[in-house]
Amino acid sequence: MSNPIISHADISSFADSKVNLPADKAKEYREQVKNLREKLEKHIVEDPNFDLVKMLHSGSVAKGTALKIIHDMDVAVYLKKGVEVKDSELLTWLMDRLKEAYSNLGADQFSCPSGSHCVTISFRGVGLDVDVVPVIEDDNPDDDYGYLVTKDTGDQVLTNITLHLEFILKRKKAQPHHFRQVVRLIKWWVHQQKVKDSTFRFKSLMVELICAHLADNGLDMSDYPTALQKVFAYIVQTGLKNPIIFDDYYSVSDVSDDIEGVIKILDPVNPTNNVGAKYTETERVKIVTEATEALDALTEAQFATTKDRAIEMWKTIFGPSFSA
Ligand SMILES: Nc1ncnc2c1ncn2[C@@H]1O[C@H](COP(=O)(O)OP(=O)(O)OP(=O)(O)O)[C@@H](O)[C@H]1O
Ligand SMILES: [Mg+2]
Repeated sequence: MSNPIISHADISSFADSKVNLPADKAKEYREQVKNLREKLEKHIVEDPNFDLVKMLHSGSVAKGTALKIIHDMDVAVYLKKGVEVKDSELLTWLMDRLKEAYSNLGADQFSCPSGSHCVTISFRGVGLDVDVVPVIEDDNPDDDYGYLVTKDTGDQVLTNITLHLEFILKRKKAQPHHFRQVVRLIKWWVHQQKVKDSTFRFKSLMVELICAHLADNGLDMSDYPTALQKVFAYIVQTGLKNPIIFDDYYSVSDVSDDIEGVIKILDPVNPTNNVGAKYTETERVKIVTEATEALDALTEAQFATTKDRAIEMWKTIFGPSFSA
């Protein structure tokens, strides 16, 4: 972009001060999950018949894409193969197992929040709350594939958290700092849309996969206004109707032509899992409409002749807290 009033450096410092989870906090939160994992491991050693086998840190703090406004962390707990629990009782069953493993915590620290398909362990402000989702191991217990109950829809999807982390790490390494910064800025924009409209949906994993798709296809993310413009332009131009498929862990031809869903963003570790499967046409249109507005605002900011006008435009993208 040709010398806009709000520059890459402005967006970068806005990200540092308002958007990103600071590194020391991320470290503290990772430590919190590590402690939980170690306690579970200890419990398993003491009771080898215990029905849970391991815990993996799965969310944005693990991936390095967390926002400052984070209020919970995501972990996945694997159920021992052969454990029989009805789907309808899975979460209450999991809550009971977690109470056994963490007998040092009060029973009132465990809950199943309505609308979320997970067990939340509350740390009452001493640390972040931790959302635990169950994973039912598949036939091979030696890898981290399993049927994960997704927190948002409650669907069971065959996936692999460790490979997701590896997938993201590869993109982070290809464009250090910038890849995850652009992801976080787009996630921040998504957050603003949710503030305006509580029915707006745009899952973080989808944001990461769209950014990965563009990065893999040559998008240099080192200038944030340009990178954001390209991401919004991609959403507007394709309407999110073009399938996004990665060949890290399977070949493109493994994806069937009749994958269902108005949005098709394939899980990079399972060619039959469409991460966008549960999005309706209305939800797709909302994403495209808001991306169009963001793209227009960005273009207008680029050509603004006063700083006030440029800031006003960036506020329509990043909300009232934007400053430069
Ligand atoms: N539909 C899905 N298919 C496969 N894996 C999923 C799915 N939903 C969630 N996951 C797993 O759970 C992880 C966390 O989910 P998600 O990306 O939505 O949240 P997050 O990265 O913690 O973002 P946020 O900052 O919004 O909390 C993903 O990285 C992925 O490993
Ligand atoms: Mg999360």
